[in-house]
Amino acid sequence: MFKINDNYLKLPGSYLFSTIGKKVAAFTAANPDKKIIRLGIGDVTLPLAPKIIETMHDAVDEMGNAATFKGYAPDLGYEFLRQAIVDNDFKARGADISIDEVFISDGAKSDSGNIGDIFAQDNKIAVCDPVYPVYVDTNAMSGRTGVYDELTQKWSNVIYMPCTADNNFAPEIPTETPDIIYLCFPNNPTGSTINKAELQKWVDYALKVGAVIIYDAAYEAYISEEDVPHTIYECNGAKACAIELRSFSKNAGFTGTRLGYAVVPKELKCGDVSLNSLWARRHGTKFNGAPYIIQKAGAAVYTEEGKKQTKEMVAYYMNNAKLIREGLASAGYTVSGGVNAPYIWLKTPDNMTSWEFFDYLLEKVNIVGTPGSGFGPSGEGYFRLTAFGSYENTLEAIERIKTL
Ligand SMILES: Cc1ncc(COP(=O)(O)O)c(C=O)c1O
Repeated sequence: MFKINDNYLKLPGSYLFSTIGKKVAAFTAANPDKKIIRLGIGDVTLPLAPKIIETMHDAVDEMGNAATFKGYAPDLGYEFLRQAIVDNDFKARGADISIDEVFISDGAKSDSGNIGDIFAQDNKIAVCDPVYPVYVDTNAMSGRTGVYDELTQKWSNVIYMPCTADNNFAPEIPTETPDIIYLCFPNNPTGSTINKAELQKWVDYALKVGAVIIYDAAYEAYISEEDVPHTIYECNGAKACAIELRSFSKNAGFTGTRLGYAVVPKELKCGDVSLNSLWARRHGTKFNGAPYIIQKAGAAVYTEEGKKQTKEMVAYYMNNAKLIREGLASAGYTVSGGVNAPYIWLKTPDNMTSWEFFDYLLEKVNIVGTPGSGFGPSGEGYFRLTAFGSYENTLEAIERIKTL
């Protein structure tokens, strides 16, 4: 008789966005005449930039020609893309990353979920609270998180690092020593960041206690302030303790196109074992590469036209972010984020719970946001709005909220 991985049964409820989707579907069915504005899920809305589309068309044509057709991609990804990544995302920032440390993938969600494959089950993880739920859920699936307590909404074997207004939404070094530390900056959902000196403290700490940092920089393109690091490898010693995850979803609108990469430096070792070679083994065995057409499109992001066009998209969303942040603040809400990230994090009014405020916004003004508690227990009493909508919808949403 076969047995299932019963760690899945320990997972609470359904994935956050499935629950939201069901609630919105039920509301729409009951109120078909209402125009709902979605500022909930972190999905982009602008179409792909012209340079990217043009490059994809060319790559499609190459696939239709025997002389230029491509089959399986190289294990780590095409060199043209990895070289563009190294030059633009790392060398240009003074970070010495080589192309055999870059692994092309189909996105940062898969990488953040799959990276656990190369770590033993008895590692203890530490996560920012609140944070992107995938880190905790995927560790729960592999049996690393202990038992879930419905009351506290915490796993027994996870170190939660609260990020609240008290610490300016920046995690503090935990009292209990973790083995794997997940850091996500700019942060989803709070939109907060830390400066280079603060990130250096995490690197120094990881090196001291022998921990590894999984650094998710999916929102790097939204950094607008000077002192905020764009990659963890700007910090001294990071190559010996950190893996960085990147995505093309938010900087270039690839949420539906799918492309990302992981950096696993060769210096990063557990005893004599290099994590780079473990990840190469895992990648080569379980993944057959992102499509050639998409990798070509990814390389187009780094061309002069690609950079200009994608920067304009980021600026469009950040203008929405400003609109939301300033609009809500003028309506009396306590808001943060939205400066180095496309997320605005607001305190729910009148001590409403996050889900109460979700229902309230949906029913009263037909706006969908994301309850902060879905990102961790310290997100209770908060709410996330995204800047990824259209300008017109964002404007209308803020006008509607102001009527409350
Ligand atoms: C912090 C963070 N990491 C990763 C992802 C997923 O990125 P991708 O689309 O590359 O899988 C998201 C998506 O919302 C995210 O918020």
